[in-house]
Amino acid sequence: MSEIVQKLEEKRAEARVGGGQRRIDVQHGKGKLTARERIDVLFDEGSFEEWDMFVEHRCVDFGMADQKVPGDGVVTGYGTVNGRPVFVYSQDFTVFGGSLSESHANKILKVMEKAVQVGAPIIGLNDSGGARIQEGVASLAGYADVFQQNVMASGVVPQISMVMGPCAGGAVYSPAITDFIFMVKDSSYMFVTGPDVVKTVTHETVTQEELGGAMTHASKSGVADGVFENDVEALLQLRRLLDFLPLNNKEKPPVIPTSDPATREDFSLDTLVPDNANKPYDMKELITKIVDEGDFFEVGEHFAKNMIIGFGRMEGQPVGIVANQPMVLAGCLDIESSRKAARFVRFCDCFSIPILTLVDVPGFMPGTDQEYGGIIKHGAKLLFAYAEATVPKVTVITRKAYGGAYDVMSSKHIGGDVNFAWPTAEIAVMGAKGAVEIIFRQDIGDSKKIAARTKEYEDNFANPFRAANLGFIDDVIMPHGTRRRVCNALAMLRTKDVKNPWKKHGNIPL
Ligand code: HXC
Repeated sequence: MSEIVQKLEEKRAEARVGGGQRRIDVQHGKGKLTARERIDVLFDEGSFEEWDMFVEHRCVDFGMADQKVPGDGVVTGYGTVNGRPVFVYSQDFTVFGGSLSESHANKILKVMEKAVQVGAPIIGLNDSGGARIQEGVASLAGYADVFQQNVMASGVVPQISMVMGPCAGGAVYSPAITDFIFMVKDSSYMFVTGPDVVKTVTHETVTQEELGGAMTHASKSGVADGVFENDVEALLQLRRLLDFLPLNNKEKPPVIPTSDPATREDFSLDTLVPDNANKPYDMKELITKIVDEGDFFEVGEHFAKNMIIGFGRMEGQPVGIVANQPMVLAGCLDIESSRKAARFVRFCDCFSIPILTLVDVPGFMPGTDQEYGGIIKHGAKLLFAYAEATVPKVTVITRKAYGGAYDVMSSKHIGGDVNFAWPTAEIAVMGAKGAVEIIFRQDIGDSKKIAARTKEYEDNFANPFRAANLGFIDDVIMPHGTRRRVCNALAMLRTKDVKNPWKKHGNIPL
């Protein structure tokens, strides 16, 4: 017995050092934590239960039979984050570069399957050189098994990928299927093919960082939903994000008691919208002033900045916020902002998180770039996502709500449950200038006439009343009372029960 116990301890010690101290030092030298250190930061102290510490690969080619490290390059198991269960796999770059073997894949699959069965989020801490080269197709099969499991878990439990090292080739497709991808500055990258292949095929010279670094994906491609300075910040922010999410699609999101009263008014909001309709203002100010304690977890901060998305709480209840940002491109809807918001709306709907939409949108972005890029289909994604979402939807129009963009931004017509407008709202087919130039084209040379027509159009349409007359707006509210009114609406909607017609699945314009 004592011999076995001693052997057990030896094996555990062997597994804990992974690829050995030299490789751990190299990992630290790159400013990265090891797979186990990351788990320590992510989970509540002492809560992590490790599985499959003794699993080894079964490859015998290329001298691999003599090179076995218990755990085979990935630490898996479950623990708690602020007391709630979460499953994890954390790839260990010190063991064969965190590369994925058949056994490594099976370990990941085991925790993913259990996460789905018990209904708890699954977190991937990715740090891997990709398919285990010595194993060939067995490791490709392992990847595909993970992809399949990712798809089955989608919409059942939250799946979050934290890319903390290399992630290249087909390996990128597991994170790509998950709900959120976060990356760490300077130490992580993702690409389908690396700089050398790019050079051979397209003759472009590009660095790893430019091609697939954290900022590239956070700002240019939109593949990453956020970027963090280092491993510790990334993992602590991940803990913060998990606090907004339900454990699975059958649960309500977690309520966190707040001392911020639902009735709190903020009179500074009465002057947030400038008198000049063409002047921008910062929509984030409205968000942080109405959510509980100003706590807003922004997602995709660096991409499509004309659209703000993220999580906040109202009366302790999580809410997904979708808001046009007048500071960037006047808050218009374009390809990137539509895509960004559509995926977020779908996430919220999967996981019963009510959606608060803050609208100041001058319309869709015109131009050949947009049309050739398929704005029609991309804009339709957002429209589709809102229209099929059955979670409570509360909308506040602060200023412009023009044209098709008015319809798309959670209007009454596509299932907005409670739609408010501020007195500064302008709800019309288009802005007064554009409208007059079309319907009074014959007067274009006569500036006096045009000015009079513009004023007439503004008087008629640059207000919330036309929409309110028709019942498309439930009430015109004072900006300072926004928090109270939205909290009341969300409280009333807590028991909302709407079901879309049965179908295998809809056909969102992907
Ligand atoms: C086996 C690997 C490995 C791999 C790295 N290692 N990648 N072992 N299979 N894929 C090992 C190295 O041999 C080395 O072992 C250790 O990990 C660390 O690697 P280094 O090269 O020293 O580290 P670094 O300089 O930081 O470079 C990291 C790297 C590089 C950029 C990831 O290792 C690399 O290019 N690896 C190959 C990447 C690759 O082509 N993978 C297959 C892609 S195809 P020692 O013993 O020296 O410490 C793919 C398809 C997936 O993944 C398809 C899914 C459908």
